[in-house]
Amino acid sequence: MLGLIPFSDNDQSDDRELAFKFYNDPKSPLAEAIRTTMFSIELSSSETPPRTIMLTSVLPNVGKSTLSCNFCLSLLTSKAKVLLIDTDLRKPTLHEIFAIKDNTRGLSSFLAGTLTLQEVLRKTQFENLFFIPSGPIPPNPAELLASSRMRNFIATAAKNFDYIIIDTPPFHGFAEILILSNMVDGVILVGELNNTPREGVEYFRKAVTNVGGRILGVLVNKAGKGGKGYRYYGSYKYQNYYTYGYGPQEK
Ligand SMILES: Nc1ncnc2c1ncn2[C@@H]1O[C@H](COP(=O)(O)OP(=O)(O)OP(=O)(O)O)[C@@H](O)[C@H]1O
Ligand SMILES: [Mg+2]
Repeated sequence: MLGLIPFSDNDQSDDRELAFKFYNDPKSPLAEAIRTTMFSIELSSSETPPRTIMLTSVLPNVGKSTLSCNFCLSLLTSKAKVLLIDTDLRKPTLHEIFAIKDNTRGLSSFLAGTLTLQEVLRKTQFENLFFIPSGPIPPNPAELLASSRMRNFIATAAKNFDYIIIDTPPFHGFAEILILSNMVDGVILVGELNNTPREGVEYFRKAVTNVGGRILGVLVNKAGKGGKGYRYYGSYKYQNYYTYGYGPQEK
């Protein structure tokens, strides 16, 4: 296990506030836990520390996108140049977190060959943090992400950024997770205590290892939740994941 991120039980906090928690409230328990996790990733890697890292999960809604943002913010404190990429081409959320109104230019457009990298790369309100939103939801996410254009892009970006953090959809049933695992230095599996099926984790581990991916460890999020003020979003989002992606293109 890589770390334990506490449930942030604050009625006032919205998704955006929580995604930037490390910056907004650097002394919060969540920020402390992110710091500890980053150390443990650096220290536990016997080889060179991973610089391109993807976050995924077995089930949806565990906090991958929230933690991806906080990871980036913690890396900025060491003056690193960081790139965050939304590879969730099914139900992307990071453009909302970064208040990007126009998600028509993004990774999917670059991968489809309609836009250049310069046209999809955005600056953010944080110095040294760059962001590529998902772009419009394509009919064929896995194919686009499996392309050599994606592989070359990650390799080139790795030369221009100190760290690349990749937010993904959940693993369950989506081929792109395996494809991407093989393009990055390390994979972090985010889960919730008591809500992550053991067989799912085992299956995930085998599948990722089989394609040559390196699992850095499991990160438990929302630890201690369930008390007063617990906000439950689960079932709604969960449903979404299984009902779209294979049908006609969404908005
Ligand atoms: N540590 C935490 N404490 C409290 N709420 C959290 C925490 N981490 C994430 N959340 C909340 O849980 C919800 C889901 O988070 P997020 O969107 O980051 O999950 P996800 O794994 O990216 O979801 P999806 O599978 O849909 O992409 C959001 O409302 C987020 O604010
Ligand atoms: Mg997400």
